[in-house]
Amino acid sequence: MDAIATNIEPSQGWSFQPSIEMLPSEFRVWQHLLESRVGIVIDIARRPFFQTHLTSRMRALGINDYADYYRYVTQGVTGAREWADLLNHLTTQFTQFFRHIPSFETLEAYLSQRIQLDSEAALSLWSVGCSSGEEAYSLAITASEVCRKADLPEHYGVFATDISSHALSNARLGIYASEKVQHLDSSLLDRYFSNHAEGTFSIASALKARLCCARLNVLELGRTPISGMDVIFCQNLLIYFRRWLRKDILNQLVNKLNPGGLLVIGVGEVNGWSHPDLIPVADERVLAFTRRVA
Ligand SMILES: C[S@@+](CC[C@H](N)C(=O)[O-])C[C@H]1O[C@@H](n2cnc3c(N)ncnc32)[C@H](O)[C@@H]1O
Repeated sequence: MDAIATNIEPSQGWSFQPSIEMLPSEFRVWQHLLESRVGIVIDIARRPFFQTHLTSRMRALGINDYADYYRYVTQGVTGAREWADLLNHLTTQFTQFFRHIPSFETLEAYLSQRIQLDSEAALSLWSVGCSSGEEAYSLAITASEVCRKADLPEHYGVFATDISSHALSNARLGIYASEKVQHLDSSLLDRYFSNHAEGTFSIASALKARLCCARLNVLELGRTPISGMDVIFCQNLLIYFRRWLRKDILNQLVNKLNPGGLLVIGVGEVNGWSHPDLIPVADERVLAFTRRVA
């Protein structure tokens, strides 16, 4: 045994403690809480992950029982804080710059046409479920590039919303590991990023100033004052929801879209949905629609 290990007495320092067994009935209670509050449906296969994460939080708080922890999370201000923190861990936040290239090509074509029609119009773009900001900054870069190529001033802003406060902090910070940007064209890197500490890249301040980040639960869209959007991107979020809820959310997003606006969804994220105000974009690589002008 090495010196460090023999210095640790299990009773004084750490000792391996298995996570607290979560019964299927207890798992269902947590499944229901997550689905009713944020819409996310968690598969039973994720029970071990739940068990491990909840156990570590319960131990930190000195709670030994899932029912007690449930009460803790669902009551008062401390509960709301704990819930927000839990969401940061329980939601999937994987994202990438220009994650689905054809969707961004559709956006570029749409914006080019819009500014040709009216170069003075102020355009509002929205990344719904923006995670750590890569999608929102990709919208901003696309808009800036369209204006630059047309030699026109930039009149646009990007809303970036998510339920995770942790993801939003990262979006506001705008600092990314080099692996996250290495696939980007070097001219985009030069124009919209600068070298930051230890192999990380920082979003250029002019681009960052275009972003407005806010915490928003898409289940509360009906009560959100956001409206008059010209572009809405909602990708890799609806897949976690039940089918009827996906359609419900999309119907509400249509209400937030300006006539002539563009809605872009992740391919395959919703089937058999149509809306009387929408015209599908004729490109089978994307799932996108424009709103009819009355
Ligand atoms: C997999 S990421 C997708 C990020 C980005 N849209 C993309 O396509 O790369 C899903 C994001 O949705 C967020 N999310 C999950 N449930 C949400 C809800 N009810 N309201 C708003 N955002 C939610 C998560 O926090 C996460 O950041």
